[in-house]
Amino acid sequence: MSSITLHDKSFRPFIPYERLEAAIDAVAEKINSDYEGCEDVPVLMCTLNGAIMFCAELMKRLRFKCQLSCIKLSSYQGTQSTGTVLTTLGPTCDVKGRRVIICEDIVDTGNTIIALQEMLQHQGAAQVRICTMLLKPEVYDKDVPLDYVAMEVPNAFIVGFGLDYNELGRNLKDIYVLE
Ligand code: IMP
Ligand code: MG
Repeated sequence: MSSITLHDKSFRPFIPYERLEAAIDAVAEKINSDYEGCEDVPVLMCTLNGAIMFCAELMKRLRFKCQLSCIKLSSYQGTQSTGTVLTTLGPTCDVKGRRVIICEDIVDTGNTIIALQEMLQHQGAAQVRICTMLLKPEVYDKDVPLDYVAMEVPNAFIVGFGLDYNELGRNLKDIYVLE
């Protein structure tokens, strides 16, 4: 793996796919142990676009009946969080009375995920749990505990495996960090 350039910035290799895979295996097992044998059909809420790769990898490891729904939120411009969370699409199913597992790519300040959790609770979800592939624990400042975290990362800007820098880099199989 060598460094890459996206727009005006260089990124160096940071987390290889094999490590992501192992972390996703482990988090999927935790979810399975909590939900396997359930009689309801929980909703897996994929936060577009970033979580699309993680959600696909996670879903194929889950051993209970679940429904996929998507929602699109936006709080980032370039490499900075703006603090305001906007819903630009979805959710693509009615969550009333349903148990929902939010499937997020990365939790930074937590603004996005907490706003989404509150929104789904408002819409009548029976339970809303949070599953994130990555967490920046140095930045996350909310009191809400995160139910499932696949991997923790330092406070740096990263791309790849769904994560973008101004819409580029999502297709990278490994994760790269800003140089
Ligand atoms: P938060 O609301 O500050 O927690 O930001 C969460 C959202 O910002 C994530 O869903 C990502 O889409 C985006 N984000 C946060 N950190 C990064 C990063 O390092 N690279 C790319 N996108 C990021
Ligand atoms: Mg996201």
